[in-house]
Amino acid sequence: KKDVRILAYESSCDETSTAVVKNGRKVESLIVATQIKSHQRFGGVVPEVASRHHIEVISQITREALAEAGVDWSEIDAIAVTSGPGLVGALLIGVSAAKAAAMATGIPLIGVDHIMGHIMAAQLTAEIDYPALALQVSGGHTEIVLLKDPTHLEIIGDTRDDAAGEAYDKIGRVLGVNYPAGKTIDEWAHQGKDTFNFPRAMMEDDNYDFSFSGLKSAFINTCHHADQIHQSLDKYDLAASFQAAVVEVLVTKTLRAIKAYQPRTFIMGGGVAANRGLRDRMSQEIDNFREELKPKVILPPLKLCGDNAAMIGAAAYNLYQAGEFADLTLNANPSLEL
Ligand code: KG4
Ligand code: ZN
Repeated sequence: KKDVRILAYESSCDETSTAVVKNGRKVESLIVATQIKSHQRFGGVVPEVASRHHIEVISQITREALAEAGVDWSEIDAIAVTSGPGLVGALLIGVSAAKAAAMATGIPLIGVDHIMGHIMAAQLTAEIDYPALALQVSGGHTEIVLLKDPTHLEIIGDTRDDAAGEAYDKIGRVLGVNYPAGKTIDEWAHQGKDTFNFPRAMMEDDNYDFSFSGLKSAFINTCHHADQIHQSLDKYDLAASFQAAVVEVLVTKTLRAIKAYQPRTFIMGGGVAANRGLRDRMSQEIDNFREELKPKVILPPLKLCGDNAAMIGAAAYNLYQAGEFADLTLNANPSLEL
């Protein structure tokens, strides 16, 4: 059987990334050009700045991805690109680059959903047995997703307001932590204790949805109140208390979904899936399941949790096998729904 080699692009937010992935499993090259520094002084991603950075690097990192994999265009079987969801101007840069390359070379084009990409980072780590269930947690999304096969997803739970990563970034700003704050808050959390007992929203509700805006407000109010009475709070305990609330809600609802749907594989994906507290607690809890109910657990390595093109190449391979190609009318779709 012939190998399938895919060149993939990802430019939905603030990382421009290219990769070559073989057979949806092996990362032959991965380039991630991050623009975080350019956004930090604004405290978040500025769409126009993001688009401009994507344009500046995309041709260069296309050549780098091919060179690092040691292949040329003639060895590429498909060109894949994130077509949404994300920032429209940012998505357009990747989509235009991929379409231009497909047009110039005649290589088939595949459009990939960003959420599907995050989940398929797991495929680069281990084989996924279906049905699978995924917790997809990032700066833009907090979803529980059911996969009956490698190309069909169903969102069974979603956030009603802020995404988990967004909540990390917003409370990080209050604590004076640079954007994106998740990694630092995670580190601080391990040095503090859960002393504030922040609210855990929607835990008892009979659904798989989340809400993080109440937690964020409670956190901000606690800090403002302390400021007013000139009391100083321990930043490590604040971080630990915030993280304990986020992790408890994510884990409780996810475990409930695993028990209800009994997937053969459980996957975590997205930037927040890099969270040590979340990874440890989720693994422990699933480890305690009765043997016959225990799904295989795939937690991708940290560098595949954040935005990257290798995960897009992995997801694109499944679409390639299913014959789901795009044509040159492929457009960026900022609100792509599965
Ligand atoms: O998947 P990603 O790179 O981009 C989006 O698609 O959103 O996720 C970025 C998000 C940011 O909100 C960042 O603060 C968060 O992931 N993040 C973390 C950690 N590392 C990154 N949140 C909690 N704990 C971490 N260790
Ligand atoms: Zn993402």
